[in-house]
Amino acid sequence: MSVVANPLHPLFAAGVEDIDLREALGSTEVREIERLMDEKSVLVFRGQPLSQDQQIAFARNFGPLEGGFIKVNQRPSRFKYAELADISNVSLDGKVAQRDAREVVGNFANQLWHSDSSFQQPAARYSMLSAVVVPPSGGDTEFCDMRAAYDALPRDLQSELEGLRAEHYALNSRFLLGDTDYSEAQRNAMPPVTWPLVRTHAGSGRKFLFIGAHASHVEGLPVAEGRMLLAELLEHATQREFVYRHRWNVGDLVMWDNRCVLHRGRRYDISARRELRRATTLDDAVV
Ligand code: OGA
Ligand code: MN
Repeated sequence: MSVVANPLHPLFAAGVEDIDLREALGSTEVREIERLMDEKSVLVFRGQPLSQDQQIAFARNFGPLEGGFIKVNQRPSRFKYAELADISNVSLDGKVAQRDAREVVGNFANQLWHSDSSFQQPAARYSMLSAVVVPPSGGDTEFCDMRAAYDALPRDLQSELEGLRAEHYALNSRFLLGDTDYSEAQRNAMPPVTWPLVRTHAGSGRKFLFIGAHASHVEGLPVAEGRMLLAELLEHATQREFVYRHRWNVGDLVMWDNRCVLHRGRRYDISARRELRRATTLDDAVV
């Protein structure tokens, strides 16, 4: 069967209907989804309440899965699979965590524009986020199109960026939020990696800006100058014209390409339950 996609934004993002992600996909459907991802960067599948098994099976169609923040955190998980990231404000006992609990910091870190696991090599390719419980208001997720943002940069700035690389570090976003109580072992568990500020998207040949909250500074530039360059690029890329905002319903599955979109959660009342679950593939072709 062929997969039908409806545009959700003039530049990127599409809704996909007439597919049941709970069923095993054939190779034609998998290729179709990859082709759509190369073009659209964000795909929204409504009404797909996946079990953990189904979510893992769906994700494995697109390559090896990654464990993300697991190495730093080393906390037990509520899930059956270590590869499922718990994107929630719920503690291990199943209750909504206290607002000052350490484990809710991740919810706030996710509200900074970022690309999942850009602090590791290989980084993440596709994230597949499934909504289990959504709060009564707030808690949307936004995506910005880093290919369109690159294309819209002035030519002279595009050339200035050629050859520049940023360092990405797993705890950078935590430090930004004042969450600094990490042991030496935790700080060193995931050594920083560097990525070019401008990369080329394998599936489309288009260039994109690769930045976000894990990027701490620009190699070879004074820290302040590099940080302000990163801040300026982020401000440019996250102008409204480049942003698609997803309002969640329970059972939505949203899939995005971490190479060429950044994303962030929006604020919500942290004492209201919000539970999402993410599976993520590795961008293993780039090492
Ligand atoms: C994620 C993430 C944002 C949100 O799942 O990787 O950053 O809105 N989520 O929960
Ligand atoms: Mn994320």
